[in-house]
Amino acid sequence: MYIVQIASECAPAIKAGGLGDVVYGLSRGLSNQGHNVEIILPKYDCMRYDQIGEMSEAYQDLWVPWNNGSIHCTVLYAEIYGQKCFFIESHSNENFFNRNKIYGDWDDPLRFAFFSKASLEFLLKSGKRPDIIHCHDGQTGLIPVLLYEIYQHQGMGNQRVCYTIHNFKHQSVALRNVLGAAGLGDHLFTDDRLKDNGRHDAINFMKGGIVYANHVTTVSPHHAWEARFSSEGYGLGSTLGVHHEKFSGILNGIDDKFWNPKVDKYLPTNYGIADFELKARNKKALRERLWLRDPDKPTPRPIVAYIGRLDAQKGVDLVLHAIDYALFRSAQFVLLGSPTGNELGRLFGGKKNHFNNNPDVHLELTFNEELSHLVYAGADMMIVPSNYEPCGLTQMISLRYGTVPIVRGVGGLKNTVFDVDYDESIAPEKRNGYVFYQTDHSALDSALGRAIDLWYNNPEDFVELAKQGMRYDYSWKDPAQEYVKVYDKIRVPSAI
Ligand code: GLC
Repeated sequence: MYIVQIASECAPAIKAGGLGDVVYGLSRGLSNQGHNVEIILPKYDCMRYDQIGEMSEAYQDLWVPWNNGSIHCTVLYAEIYGQKCFFIESHSNENFFNRNKIYGDWDDPLRFAFFSKASLEFLLKSGKRPDIIHCHDGQTGLIPVLLYEIYQHQGMGNQRVCYTIHNFKHQSVALRNVLGAAGLGDHLFTDDRLKDNGRHDAINFMKGGIVYANHVTTVSPHHAWEARFSSEGYGLGSTLGVHHEKFSGILNGIDDKFWNPKVDKYLPTNYGIADFELKARNKKALRERLWLRDPDKPTPRPIVAYIGRLDAQKGVDLVLHAIDYALFRSAQFVLLGSPTGNELGRLFGGKKNHFNNNPDVHLELTFNEELSHLVYAGADMMIVPSNYEPCGLTQMISLRYGTVPIVRGVGGLKNTVFDVDYDESIAPEKRNGYVFYQTDHSALDSALGRAIDLWYNNPEDFVELAKQGMRYDYSWKDPAQEYVKVYDKIRVPSAI
């Protein structure tokens, strides 16, 4: 099958969060199964060009109809670690992508509406006719709308769209006049099409994506349920209800080559299930690297870790509390992640100062890829106390590194971590971590407390639990097959 992915991120070159990892990982998973995959991205100034192969011109004079005129673009081609990518460079006065950050400007919806239009125009003009166009998140929600309303009448009648939502919180909501700029009629401004469910003067790209795509997914089965039936659809639950027959949840995978403790080049000592005891050398190295004391002789202590963006979605209040609780229970704590916004910056900065001379705590308030590998390998436990989590990658990586996850049972966390003491839905030998449900401190305390108790009182059982986690295969193999099933269902059978 010929599949084109259209997105605003692709790791490792352009990444703000998990979306970038998924666009790359899924594309590779599909390529590995023999499909022809291409990715279309904006050409940003702020990409990591050292992570992109040599660029060449793929299409020179692309004129994209916009605002009753047209904007001149150039399309470049390069590979990102073996995946074929096209980059749209716009020469508009607005400087759509030549900025120093991917998101965060007032005109984001407008910029990505333009990117969506330019991507389809590129497919049209270059004669590319994929079986499936797979687009991602609010930024590209207009793709299926534009395809159905405009491009199918211009020679793209056989293209079908799969639309994946990674984060319902960022829906790309814009003023109604963006419709006109993109060449779409004002008649789309209705409740059953693009009109935002809350703001009456605005259109909502994500809603458009749900209404017009041939199939809609989110990134875990449990989150599909939450988005429809709880507040986590952020106003789109009713729209999902209307279109529920084409909506499903497919769990993400992780890149099992990049995240593999047996060959991970960032680790001082590689290890697997068979030589699990070697993991301890990484714990020692982690302590040395972060100036933590090594209390293993005479009194051993577990290391509890947190890795991730520090924003409200991630349950920062519980993260802050977990540091105190871990110390209280004679564990060490390591945190790696950058706070979003000034207020969280101050909060975590204050906490860091507070623990400045404490040899049992290290807070690293910038993200560092290489160090993250050592933390995954060196820690004993990983907390993921998210408020909401459509899928979550941290818990899957932790499992692969034999680091026991302690998670809040929401979204994809619920689909991947099974409580060792309480999960009756799964055989005891398949259980792989600790799960709590409430958002108060005591809920976290009791789950983390159970993990610390096991570590101290039954070290052999704790190691067994860690190994059970390592046996899970959360690679892209199964998810890529799930997506192929969706593609097969919606695509137009090729003419014989
Ligand atoms: C978003 C979600 C996260 C998910 C990722 C990739 O960042 O918040 O849960 O894992 O997208 O789909």
